[in-house]
Amino acid sequence: MKNRFIASALLAIPATIFMTVASASGIDAEAAKKLAKRSDCLTCHSVDKNKVGPAYKKVAAKYKGQADAEAKLIKFITAGAKVKLEDGTEMTHAIINSKDNGEIKNLAGWILSQ
Ligand code: HEC
Repeated sequence: MKNRFIASALLAIPATIFMTVASASGIDAEAAKKLAKRSDCLTCHSVDKNKVGPAYKKVAAKYKGQADAEAKLIKFITAGAKVKLEDGTEMTHAIINSKDNGEIKNLAGWILSQ
């Protein structure tokens, strides 16, 4: 009984550290992924592979160290920016399926943290 208590106490330590780190960045990855799915972003994007659109890791690398990165991304995914595909076709980029600023900010933050 006592050993079991110690074992579960030990298991709880990394979980607590993990939760602290996750909340320190303030990003809810699950909510971000859900919103991306709901908005059909994942037909053209994935976290680590280039599809029709660049991998989110690549986007994060491009914006690394830029203070206004989050604001730029929010604008990009809410304004329907004109983009050019590799074959030269122009299209209007998809717009996020949400009017909730907090939710949109969370998604932008998640993309930048990849
Ligand atoms: C039809 C395909 C398609 C869909 C759907 C799509 N994207 Fe994109 N996305 C692209 C392409 C292509 C680019 C590259 C544009 C460029 O480099 O000019 C891009 C670029 C981006 C970028 C990088 C912008 C930058 O400044 O470098 C972000 C962030 C992004 N998309 C997020 C999203 C989100 C969030 C969604 C869902 C609302 C989404 N995309 C849906 C094709 C798509």
